[in-house]
Amino acid sequence: MTVAPSLSLLAEVHRWLNQLFLDHQLALLSLDLPAASACLERYESNLKLHIDDEESALIPLYDARTDNVPGGAVELFTGEHTKLTGFIGEFHQTLLAITGKSDRDLRLDIIKLFDREAICKGLVEHHHAREHNILFPWLDKITSENERTDLLANCASLRAWREAK
Ligand SMILES: [Fe+2]
Ligand SMILES: [Fe+2]
Repeated sequence: MTVAPSLSLLAEVHRWLNQLFLDHQLALLSLDLPAASACLERYESNLKLHIDDEESALIPLYDARTDNVPGGAVELFTGEHTKLTGFIGEFHQTLLAITGKSDRDLRLDIIKLFDREAICKGLVEHHHAREHNILFPWLDKITSENERTDLLANCASLRAWREAK
Protein backbone atom coordinates (compact mmCIF):
# COMPACT_ATOMS: atom_id res chain seq x y z
CA MET A 1 0.00 0.00 0.00
CA THR A 2 1.26 3.46 -0.89
CA VAL A 3 1.21 5.96 1.94
CA ALA A 4 0.63 9.65 1.13
CA PRO A 5 2.70 11.67 0.39
CA SER A 6 3.99 9.43 -2.37
CA LEU A 7 6.86 9.79 -4.81
CA SER A 8 4.45 8.48 -7.45
CA LEU A 9 3.30 12.12 -7.71
CA LEU A 10 6.29 12.49 -10.05
CA ALA A 11 4.30 10.54 -12.66
CA GLU A 12 2.54 13.90 -13.18
CA VAL A 13 5.88 15.43 -14.17
CA HIS A 14 6.45 12.54 -16.59
CA ARG A 15 3.05 13.15 -18.21
CA TRP A 16 3.78 16.88 -18.47
CA LEU A 17 7.18 16.27 -20.05
CA ASN A 18 5.52 14.00 -22.63
CA GLN A 19 3.08 16.82 -23.45
CA LEU A 20 5.97 19.27 -23.92
CA PHE A 21 7.61 16.86 -26.35
CA LEU A 22 4.33 16.54 -28.26
CA ASP A 23 4.21 20.36 -28.55
CA HIS A 24 7.59 20.14 -30.27
CA GLN A 25 6.30 17.43 -32.63
CA LEU A 26 3.16 19.44 -33.45
CA ALA A 27 5.36 22.38 -34.45
CA LEU A 28 7.41 20.03 -36.66
CA LEU A 29 4.22 18.79 -38.27
CA SER A 30 3.46 22.43 -39.18
CA LEU A 31 7.00 22.81 -40.60
CA ASP A 32 7.56 25.57 -38.04
CA LEU A 33 11.21 24.98 -37.17
CA PRO A 34 11.68 28.00 -34.86
CA ALA A 35 8.69 26.87 -32.78
CA ALA A 36 9.90 23.24 -32.89
CA SER A 37 13.27 24.41 -31.54
CA ALA A 38 11.74 26.56 -28.83
CA CYS A 39 9.48 23.70 -27.69
CA LEU A 40 12.42 21.29 -27.71
CA GLU A 41 14.39 23.72 -25.52
CA ARG A 42 11.50 23.98 -23.09
CA TYR A 43 11.26 20.19 -22.97
CA GLU A 44 15.00 19.84 -22.50
CA SER A 45 15.29 22.37 -19.68
CA ASN A 46 12.46 20.74 -17.72
CA LEU A 47 13.75 17.24 -18.44
CA LYS A 48 17.13 18.33 -17.04
CA LEU A 49 15.50 19.75 -13.91
CA HIS A 50 13.74 16.44 -13.45
CA ILE A 51 16.85 14.34 -14.05
CA ASP A 52 18.71 16.52 -11.56
CA ASP A 53 15.96 15.96 -8.95
CA GLU A 54 16.40 12.23 -9.43
CA GLU A 55 20.19 12.08 -9.62
CA SER A 56 20.97 14.54 -6.82
CA ALA A 57 18.42 13.38 -4.25
CA LEU A 58 16.11 10.47 -5.09
CA ILE A 59 18.52 7.97 -6.63
CA PRO A 60 21.31 8.46 -4.03
CA LEU A 61 18.80 7.82 -1.23
CA TYR A 62 17.40 4.78 -3.04
CA ASP A 63 20.96 3.54 -3.61
CA ALA A 64 21.88 3.96 0.06
CA ARG A 65 18.84 2.13 1.40
CA THR A 66 18.25 -0.71 -1.08
CA ASP A 67 20.32 -3.64 -2.22
CA ASN A 68 20.21 -5.56 -5.51
CA VAL A 69 16.68 -4.62 -6.53
CA PRO A 70 15.91 -6.66 -9.70
CA GLY A 71 15.78 -4.32 -12.72
CA GLY A 72 16.56 -1.43 -10.41
CA ALA A 73 20.33 -0.95 -10.60
CA VAL A 74 21.29 2.71 -10.29
CA GLU A 75 23.30 2.50 -13.53
CA LEU A 76 20.11 1.59 -15.42
CA PHE A 77 18.37 4.80 -14.32
CA THR A 78 21.36 7.06 -14.89
CA GLY A 79 22.35 5.33 -18.14
CA GLU A 80 18.87 5.96 -19.53
CA HIS A 81 19.13 9.63 -18.49
CA THR A 82 22.39 9.92 -20.43
CA LYS A 83 20.82 8.32 -23.52
CA LEU A 84 17.80 10.64 -23.32
CA THR A 85 19.84 13.83 -23.06
CA GLY A 86 21.99 12.54 -25.93
CA PHE A 87 18.89 12.15 -28.10
CA ILE A 88 17.78 15.71 -27.34
CA GLY A 89 21.20 17.03 -28.35
CA GLU A 90 20.93 15.07 -31.60
CA PHE A 91 17.48 16.55 -32.32
CA HIS A 92 18.78 20.09 -31.79
CA GLN A 93 21.59 19.37 -34.26
CA THR A 94 19.12 17.95 -36.79
CA LEU A 95 16.91 21.05 -36.52
CA LEU A 96 19.92 23.25 -37.22
CA ALA A 97 20.96 21.08 -40.16
CA ILE A 98 17.56 21.12 -41.87
CA THR A 99 16.88 24.85 -41.40
CA GLY A 100 16.74 26.55 -44.78
CA LYS A 101 16.02 23.39 -46.79
CA SER A 102 13.43 23.43 -49.55
CA ASP A 103 9.94 22.13 -49.11
CA ARG A 104 10.22 18.49 -50.28
CA ASP A 105 13.67 17.95 -48.75
CA LEU A 106 12.52 19.56 -45.53
CA ARG A 107 9.49 17.28 -45.31
CA LEU A 108 11.60 14.19 -46.00
CA ASP A 109 14.07 15.22 -43.28
CA ILE A 110 11.25 15.81 -40.84
CA ILE A 111 9.97 12.28 -41.52
CA LYS A 112 13.46 10.98 -40.66
CA LEU A 113 13.51 13.10 -37.52
CA PHE A 114 10.13 11.66 -36.45
CA ASP A 115 11.58 8.17 -36.90
CA ARG A 116 14.51 9.01 -34.58
CA GLU A 117 12.14 10.66 -32.12
CA ALA A 118 9.98 7.53 -32.07
CA ILE A 119 13.00 5.59 -30.76
CA CYS A 120 13.53 8.25 -28.10
CA LYS A 121 9.85 8.10 -27.09
CA GLY A 122 10.14 4.33 -26.72
CA LEU A 123 13.10 4.83 -24.39
CA VAL A 124 11.18 7.45 -22.39
CA GLU A 125 8.25 5.05 -22.00
CA HIS A 126 10.55 2.27 -20.84
CA HIS A 127 12.37 4.61 -18.44
CA HIS A 128 9.18 5.99 -16.93
CA ALA A 129 7.84 2.45 -16.45
CA ARG A 130 11.06 1.52 -14.60
CA GLU A 131 10.62 4.52 -12.28
CA HIS A 132 6.88 3.96 -11.75
CA ASN A 133 7.38 0.26 -11.04
CA ILE A 134 10.65 0.33 -9.10
CA LEU A 135 12.15 3.68 -8.08
CA PHE A 136 9.05 5.45 -6.76
CA PRO A 137 7.47 2.46 -4.93
CA TRP A 138 10.81 1.65 -3.29
CA LEU A 139 11.30 5.25 -2.22
CA ASP A 140 7.83 5.21 -0.68
CA LYS A 141 8.73 2.04 1.18
CA ILE A 142 12.12 3.12 2.58
CA THR A 143 11.32 6.68 3.69
CA SER A 144 9.31 8.26 6.48
CA GLU A 145 6.38 10.52 5.76
CA ASN A 146 8.47 13.57 6.70
CA GLU A 147 11.29 12.49 4.39
CA ARG A 148 8.86 12.04 1.51
CA THR A 149 7.36 15.48 2.15
CA ASP A 150 10.86 17.00 2.08
CA LEU A 151 11.92 15.06 -1.02
CA LEU A 152 8.85 16.23 -2.94
CA ALA A 153 9.19 19.82 -1.68
CA ASN A 154 12.74 19.89 -3.01
CA CYS A 155 11.87 18.62 -6.51
CA ALA A 156 12.40 21.55 -8.89
CA SER A 157 10.62 19.69 -11.70
CA LEU A 158 7.52 19.29 -9.55
CA ARG A 159 7.52 23.03 -8.85
CA ALA A 160 7.93 23.75 -12.58
CA TRP A 161 4.98 21.45 -13.39
CA ARG A 162 2.80 23.18 -10.76
CA GLU A 163 3.73 26.63 -12.08
CA ALA A 164 2.93 25.56 -15.66
CA LYS A 165 -0.53 24.18 -14.78
FE1 LIG B 1 14.47 9.47 -14.68
FE1 LIG C 1 11.54 10.49 -13.78
